[in-house]
Amino acid sequence: MSAILQSLHAPSTTLDIRRVAGRIGAEIRGIALSGDLDAATVAAIRAALVTHKVLFFRDQALDEAGQEAFGWRLGDLVPHPTVPSLPGTAGVLDLDGSRGERASSWHTDVTFVPDYPAISILRAVTLPAYGGDTLWANTAAAYAELPLPLRDLADKLWALHSNVYDYVGGRVNVLEAGRRRHEEVFTRTVFETEHPLVHVHPESGERSLIVGHFIQRILGLTTSDSQHLLAIFHDHATRPENTVRWSWRTGDVAIWDNRATVHRAVDDYDDQPRVVRRVTIQGVAPVSVDGQRSRARETEVRKAA
Ligand SMILES: [Fe+2]
Repeated sequence: MSAILQSLHAPSTTLDIRRVAGRIGAEIRGIALSGDLDAATVAAIRAALVTHKVLFFRDQALDEAGQEAFGWRLGDLVPHPTVPSLPGTAGVLDLDGSRGERASSWHTDVTFVPDYPAISILRAVTLPAYGGDTLWANTAAAYAELPLPLRDLADKLWALHSNVYDYVGGRVNVLEAGRRRHEEVFTRTVFETEHPLVHVHPESGERSLIVGHFIQRILGLTTSDSQHLLAIFHDHATRPENTVRWSWRTGDVAIWDNRATVHRAVDDYDDQPRVVRRVTIQGVAPVSVDGQRSRARETEVRKAA
């Protein structure tokens, strides 16, 4: 609606939005992303992002500098807490499937810190001839579909998130390179954060689940009870009706609201090359339904140098 209203005053800011799936995801056509977009277009993109949760832009011509410049239009860029940025960039995360960086389990980016990214921007650089799609799920829709007793329960729960998580987990194909990189790079500093299982989105006011593989356990429960309960909420979040799947083409850019989604890559491209690059926009610590803010449990534990 806001895009339509804006278009009455400035037709050039009208976005051509095509929904991709029923509850999440839209493709925006006719825009060349860059750091030079006018403010009205940037505002319209932001509004569409909050509504659709993940936006897709085909046939973009961004390089690393352009991706960063566009990112700055959406907020403050923040580099990954442990993984070094691509050389020559301030905050581009290089994700290379050949290094085992396959992100093939459901997660929300960097929830092991309190003020995790609000927005992620991912660009397809090198793609396999087949496979390598990405899935996103709408965690606000997942919360909304919960029966009332489960919503009431979820509202009261808090979970411990850490970058030291069960990396092997449900992955069938665990590359040694990926396991080693997780151990030596991804967890070289250990973070632990307590988040509510449900938070209030700072822009939309929607309640949304905070789930994904960085959760170690629900606070105050046994490991067994925690796993059973998390499976219920995780299953709702990732039901096919709450998801969208994107088949990448080189140059595609996907932007997602990291405060209202979980995502995962599909590891079905064998040993073909797949490189995608990401920048992330600084977020604020989530707030629970009763107004409590997420908190770091232990600041950092440095591994021996
Ligand atoms: Fe991710």
